[in-house]
Amino acid sequence: MSRKPLIAGNWKMNNTIGEAVVLAQEISNEFEPDWAETVDVAVCPPFVDLKPVKTVFEFDRTKIAVGAQNVYWEPSGAYTGEISVAMLKEIGCGYCIVGHSERRTLFGETNEDVNLKVKALLGEERDAIDPIICVGESLAVRDEGSYLEFVEAEVNAALAGVSEDEAAHVVIAYEPIWAIGTGRTATPEQAQEVCAHIRATVSALYGDDIAEGVRILYGGSMNEGNADLLMAQPDIDGGLIGGASLAAGSFIGVVKAAL
Ligand code: PGA
Repeated sequence: MSRKPLIAGNWKMNNTIGEAVVLAQEISNEFEPDWAETVDVAVCPPFVDLKPVKTVFEFDRTKIAVGAQNVYWEPSGAYTGEISVAMLKEIGCGYCIVGHSERRTLFGETNEDVNLKVKALLGEERDAIDPIICVGESLAVRDEGSYLEFVEAEVNAALAGVSEDEAAHVVIAYEPIWAIGTGRTATPEQAQEVCAHIRATVSALYGDDIAEGVRILYGGSMNEGNADLLMAQPDIDGGLIGGASLAAGSFIGVVKAAL
């Protein structure tokens, strides 16, 4: 089955509203309309930038989605500082990153939190916000050799209680922590090994049909120079791009590699 690649830019905590509008406009200017037939593209800016960035793309009729970097699972209430699924929905978010390793390590997010967020996004009221679930091992786990089991456990935990219908909307991003922001990319073979294992894990949960449709991204120092070879791997369906998504030229370079 052929899967449509997804290139998602994770801006992390970068770009004020003014800066975000400029970058979104530059990306929009370089994006050719017919590319959208071959590749799905999303940018995931900080919460405050979501609406302004969405407005740029809407005004230009550019088929680039916006995604959030996080969400809270409760529908509303006394949760100071949090953002609900309904709030993201009203802005028109198509995606939401969940369980990024920076959230897990810096903000104490657990596998259980990730699961609650995934279920909140996929719940009946969700209206198509697809979670981009991030998984990936530390250098210590890789060196010790148990990285496949580690990633498998993260996938199983994230998808606990998720139905077959819901699972079809899930995107999984394999992001080895040792490759994030370090300039040290996983080799295509290393990335493929884990992405194939993720697909096998999804297949064990939901069967081959669902597993063959789920998009699995690679993330970790991916850029226009290495994107080609990574995406040539059979189980890598795109990328979650950090540093290289912060300039229009390098982000568009990665998008072109997926065409
Ligand atoms: P990087 O970040 O491309 O800067 O390594 C990727 C990510 O953290 O999503």
